[in-house]
Amino acid sequence: MREIAVFGGSAHPALTTEICAFLGVPQQPVQLQRFANDCLEVQLQANCRERDVFLIQPLVYPVQEHLVELLLMADAARGASAARVTAVIPHYAYARSDKKDKPRISIGARLVADLLVTAGVDRVLTLTLHSPQVHGFFSVPVDHLHALREFTAYFRDRGRDLSRAAVVAPDLGYAKSAADFARRLGVPVAAGAKERISDTEVRITAIIGDVTGRDVIVLDDEISRGTTVFELLARLREQGARSVAVACTHGLFADNALDKLAAADVTEVVCTNTAPVPLDHPKLHVLSVAPALAEAISRIHNGESVSALFQV
Ligand code: R5P
Repeated sequence: MREIAVFGGSAHPALTTEICAFLGVPQQPVQLQRFANDCLEVQLQANCRERDVFLIQPLVYPVQEHLVELLLMADAARGASAARVTAVIPHYAYARSDKKDKPRISIGARLVADLLVTAGVDRVLTLTLHSPQVHGFFSVPVDHLHALREFTAYFRDRGRDLSRAAVVAPDLGYAKSAADFARRLGVPVAAGAKERISDTEVRITAIIGDVTGRDVIVLDDEISRGTTVFELLARLREQGARSVAVACTHGLFADNALDKLAAADVTEVVCTNTAPVPLDHPKLHVLSVAPALAEAISRIHNGESVSALFQV
C-alpha cells in the first residue's frame, strides 16, 4: 500500500493536528512564503513521490488567501509526483455561490471546484455543503460528510428531556437535513419560509410546522452574520416556542455574531470545529469533526466505503 502523507494549510492548524492524532500519522510540515510583490509560495517539506497525499484546508476567513494556499499546495503535491491528492475542505465557503439568481453574476462554487481540479486535486473530502448539488460541481470524486451524527449524540446524550423538542430549519433548502436530524432524535420538524434580500437582510414570513410550547433546536448549515437566526428567533418567539437552542455545522460568526447570539434569548449555541471557533465561550459548545474526518481519510486511503459514517 502507498504511504499516506498529511499536510495542513494555515487556515486551521488545530484541526489538522487533531485529525493527525486520530489517524496516528505525523503532520508533515508546509512552508508558506509571501514575497514582496504579495505572491505566495508553498513548499511541502516532506516526500510526496507516489504517496497518498491529503491536504487539509477549510476555506475560512481570509478565504481568498486560504484558497490560493490550497491551490498552491495541490500544485506542489502534483509536481512532486504524488500518487493521489485529496483536498480535505471541512468548510467549502464558495458553496453559497451555486446559482445564477441575478443577471451577470459569477458562480464561485463551480469555478473554485474547477480551479482545485486544475491545480492537481484528484478527490475532495468535505462536510455539510451549503446545498447538496454543489457536490456535482466537481469533476472528481467527492466524499460529502455531514455532522448529524455528532449533533444527535450531543443532544441525546445529555440526559435532556426531548419530549417537547422540535427541530426547525430556517429555510426550506435545509428542511431535508433538519428532517433527517429530527428523525434521529425522534422529534417533529418545522421549517421557516425564508427569503434572502441581501447578505445582511433576510425575511422569514412563516414557520411551517408547530413550534408552540416547544423546546426548539434550530439547525442550519452555517451561521455567518447570524441574520438568519435572529430573524427566525423573532418568528419563534411570536409563535410561543418555550426555549431555543441553535446548532450549525460551520460556526463562522462574522460581525460579532456569537456575542450577539449569546446576548439573545437562546439556551446554547452548538457548532463544530470545521472553522476555527473560540473554545471558551460560555454559550458555545464545540463538537469536533476530527474523528469523522480522520475515519474518512483512513477509509479513503484503504479503499474502504465511507458510508458507515452516515449512520447514527
Ligand atoms: C443560507 O441559506 C444558509 O443556510 C445560512 O442560513 C446562512 O448562510 C447564514 O448566514 P447568516 O448567518 O449571515 O444569515
